[in-house]
Amino acid sequence: MIVAAFALLMDTGCNGQNKNNMETFQETSLQNEQTSNSGNMSKSIVIFFSHAGDNYSVGVIETGNTKIVADHISEITGADQFEIFTHKYDGMAYTPLIELAKEEANKGELPPYEGTTPDLSQYDTVFIGGPVWWGTYPQVMFTLFKDINLDGKTVIPFTTHEGSGLASCASDVRKAFPKAKVTCEFSIYGHEVRSGKAKVERWLTTSCQ
Ligand SMILES: Cc1cc2nc3c(=O)[nH]c(=O)nc-3n(C[C@H](O)[C@H](O)[C@H](O)COP(=O)(O)O)c2cc1C
Repeated sequence: MIVAAFALLMDTGCNGQNKNNMETFQETSLQNEQTSNSGNMSKSIVIFFSHAGDNYSVGVIETGNTKIVADHISEITGADQFEIFTHKYDGMAYTPLIELAKEEANKGELPPYEGTTPDLSQYDTVFIGGPVWWGTYPQVMFTLFKDINLDGKTVIPFTTHEGSGLASCASDVRKAFPKAKVTCEFSIYGHEVRSGKAKVERWLTTSCQ
């Protein structure tokens, strides 16, 4: 069993819930989806990556934690979705997955995603969400970041995590999209998301205004 501590970063989201994010996270343990909200005039989209399968704290899950948050956002706001998908991690147990993810992050690898790059021209607001993997988003998300242009758009980063909060995700989004308005970041524990819709709603309707 691998035991390692992740350093947690002091990035505070607009809901203020990252104030405790100097805790330590301890490792112990594209099919693309683009839905369309025909019938409403939503100009928002949630772009996210989420890993179903063997995961920290929640065990083997059929639906990834971040996807659940993405679904909450879409239900609350009517936002469309684009899921960044790769088969690279299919069926992997947690321990080999964290090793592979560490190697990818250290090498700055950009694994390809499945399918085509989304057309974002019709969207004003782009939510970007993913799990924290070794202090930032999974590398495959950065592959997509290189392919999209968010100049002038409002970009709202969010994470699911097990102790790191936003880690460096929001600042990495700012670096990737210097001409976007990056604001209102949010994080939530992965093990909380299944009962966390009210928290997501509070973020969207109260804190993120
Ligand atoms: C490869 C890997 C690396 C992780 N690294 C961190 C980390 O650095 N900090 C943290 O708080 N959680 C970390 N976690 C936990 C995930 O961020 C957390 O379980 C998240 O909710 C998973 O979301 P998902 O199901 O949408 O993929 C890691 C999990 C995995 C699988």
